[in-house]
Amino acid sequence: MSRNRFTSGFILISLFVALSVSARSAENGCIGCHQQSDFYAQSPKLHEYYQQYLGSPHEQAGVTCDACHGGNARANSAQKAHVGVLPMSDKNSAVHYQKQPETCGQCHGDKRRQFVKSKHYAALMDQRAAPTCTTCHPAMSRRPELRNIVLNACRNCHGEGNSENLPLIADQAEGVFSQLNIAGGLLGWTRIHFESHDWPADSKERVRALEMRYQIIVDKVHQFNLQATDSETSEILGQLREIFKEAQRTHEQQAEDS
Ligand code: HEC
Ligand code: HEC
Ligand code: HEC
Ligand code: HEC
Ligand code: HEC
Repeated sequence: MSRNRFTSGFILISLFVALSVSARSAENGCIGCHQQSDFYAQSPKLHEYYQQYLGSPHEQAGVTCDACHGGNARANSAQKAHVGVLPMSDKNSAVHYQKQPETCGQCHGDKRRQFVKSKHYAALMDQRAAPTCTTCHPAMSRRPELRNIVLNACRNCHGEGNSENLPLIADQAEGVFSQLNIAGGLLGWTRIHFESHDWPADSKERVRALEMRYQIIVDKVHQFNLQATDSETSEILGQLREIFKEAQRTHEQQAEDS
């Protein structure tokens, strides 16, 4: 009962968000102007950025240019719209590499909070060659194979060819991220099959608790404490496998009884 209410509430909210999102993008001055095909010849760079934005998770979620770049999305001249929009090389630009944790963190606060605890953030603020949000997540583009991008980013600084430091990190990270991926996949699977199978008592609650722990780990990945992430992921996987085994046993028991 409470689950049904939760689900229909969720659908209503999603519908509301979808409707208000399309209305918002349609009247957004930045999009209205930047989508012009004229830029293809006049300013290939602008055209390319807009093409990358199309179909991205941000476009789909109705996050418009001004959310990250600032400016006035109601203005219809470029000059008025661009007040506060600065080139990314400008230290005061909202998309300057050192400003990104703050800008992106307005909406991804859980990631930012973890990221600022990391040595990466310290190095970044120290002007050393350190990653910022878009080193690992291209902000503008559609969702690519996130894991590959991220792992390539790690190798770029921690790989063998780089004498700087810690060459083993990329391999460790690959192990941790693939475990994380398996855990995410299994959790997704349970979400679908909870409806179609009889599960042993209390397993839904246990899986839901594991799901919350999983979300917290994805946040914590941003501290880059690979040991802690590794052991927590293994524990979640272990518990999930235990629940699957119990479900299997319940299933066999029921088959025997009937
Ligand atoms: C009427 C058309 C128009 C509107 C409205 C407009 N832009 Fe632009 N934008 C341009 C043109 C033309 C350029 C390239 C020349 C320039 O910098 O003025 C540009 C350049 C940019 C750049 C690149 C800056 C750089 O230094 O390379 C960004 C970022 C940008 N716009 C963001 C925005 C945002 C955010 C909004 C809404 C708040 C917006 N634009 C509204 C036409 C527009
Ligand atoms: C989720 C945040 C986000 C959104 C939404 C976003 N951008 Fe960006 N944009 C960035 C970041 C971060 C950079 C700098 C890093 C990079 O190039 O990826 C950037 C860079 C750019 C640049 C190059 C700026 C320069 O100084 O060279 C342009 C042009 C641009 N964006 C245009 C747009 C337009 C037009 C939109 C809307 C259609 C948009 N962006 C939406 C985050 C965003
Ligand atoms: C105005 C709010 C807002 C800002 C600012 C913002 N995002 Fe997002 N971001 C969202 C929403 C909403 C989604 C889609 C729903 C989700 O996955 O959380 C999203 C999705 C993402 C995803 C994909 C998550 C997935 O499930 O695939 C990444 C990665 C991401 N954002 C990174 C960034 C980065 C990097 C920046 C800064 C350059 C940024 N975001 C700025 C709201 C924002
Ligand atoms: C050094 C690389 C790195 C940096 C820097 C980084 N992240 Fe991440 N991010 C990751 C990894 C790894 C994941 C987990 C990927 C996965 O799910 O397999 C992730 C996941 C995410 C997700 C969720 C994507 C999803 O699939 O649900 C968002 C949103 C996000 N990061 C935002 C940010 C923001 C905002 C910043 C800057 C404060 C940032 N990240 C900095 C590596 C990075
Ligand atoms: C742009 C360069 C750069 C990229 C990309 C990068 N790192 Fe780093 N990494 C650093 C620097 C700089 C340090 C800090 C070294 C120090 O201060 O001791 C560091 C330190 C670390 C540490 C040690 C942290 C600690 O607390 O001891 C880990 C783990 C790490 N990185 C993991 C990763 C992973 C995983 C990725 C990819 C998702 C990645 N790094 C991507 C530059 C980078």
